[in-house]
Amino acid sequence: MIILGIESSCDETSLAVYDSEKKSILASFTSSQAELHSRFGGVVPEVASRNHILKIESLFEQCMEKADIKPKDLDAIGVTNAPGLIGALFVGVSFAKALGYSLKIPVIPVNHLSAHIMAAELQHQDLKPPYLALIISGGHSHIYDVDEAYNFDLLAKTIDDAAGECFDKVAKMLGLGYPGGPAIESLAKNGDINKISFPIAIKNRPDFSFSGLKTSVLNKINEKTETDADIAASFQKTIAETLLLKTVRQAKAHGRNKIVVAGGVACNGFIRKTFMEKKGVEVYFPSPRLCTDNGDMIAFTAHKFFGRRIFASLEETAHDRMQHINK
Ligand code: KG4
Ligand code: ZN
Repeated sequence: MIILGIESSCDETSLAVYDSEKKSILASFTSSQAELHSRFGGVVPEVASRNHILKIESLFEQCMEKADIKPKDLDAIGVTNAPGLIGALFVGVSFAKALGYSLKIPVIPVNHLSAHIMAAELQHQDLKPPYLALIISGGHSHIYDVDEAYNFDLLAKTIDDAAGECFDKVAKMLGLGYPGGPAIESLAKNGDINKISFPIAIKNRPDFSFSGLKTSVLNKINEKTETDADIAASFQKTIAETLLLKTVRQAKAHGRNKIVVAGGVACNGFIRKTFMEKKGVEVYFPSPRLCTDNGDMIAFTAHKFFGRRIFASLEETAHDRMQHINK
């Protein structure tokens, strides 16, 4: 079966083709708008939607050429329909519906969060649930329990900022560009992780909270007693330790010894190291390329859940805030 995956929920237009017999991605093309949004210090929804429209068709053509197939060779289309920026989602969903209708093939709506988790299975082909999954991205910091039948149970989430959002805001405070995560990570390489001890918010509760940490960082910057590199390194360490503490606690509580960590923030080398060094749990990260938004994970998830036969009708729409997966 050959499936096209379409992702347009935020600032990346990404399309990929997955071949389930070969168990491999035949083509994958992404157009990132990061540079376009950087001068605004964050993603501007209207600008994002317009650029998805400009890019989507040529990315599709590039995919067909690289995969060496014709559109009629496609068996199905997977498309992110939630959650994300509503106008941005509409571009992918509309393109998928039109293509599906003209080729008379099913369109499978894919929840972006489930796709981030499934990227770990695309990467590690022997990985199977049950496992615990931590999604850390620009919009989410969620812990899900995933059982043998792929029921996704939301166990914890952020009560304010998402981890990626916190990276982006702290980067802004330090005068670094957008996206902030990679900028903080490289600045932190020259800093001392133990220089400043930032607190872990609501330590004994399952949920995350990052807005207090953001304020503590701002206070530290204003005090002008520490270097930016030490602030970045200590901040990054606090985020990593918070994520590890709360995720491992949930894994123990639910009897899971496998942990998946996915989403854009999972690109972070320090966070990857912190989790990989943890004894007593098996940790699975997708490759950094599969952590940020990509069409590969959408095509793969659509194939994985094809058996559920949840196909989109022409009335199918996009949803900006759907955190509940596949129900
Ligand atoms: O998953 P993603 O590409 O898009 C969303 O679905 O939100 O995640 C984007 C987020 C941004 O906040 C970005 O700063 C963060 O991932 N990010 C990182 C790193 N690379 C990207 N955060 C920390 N360290 C990184 N190396
Ligand atoms: Zn994402």
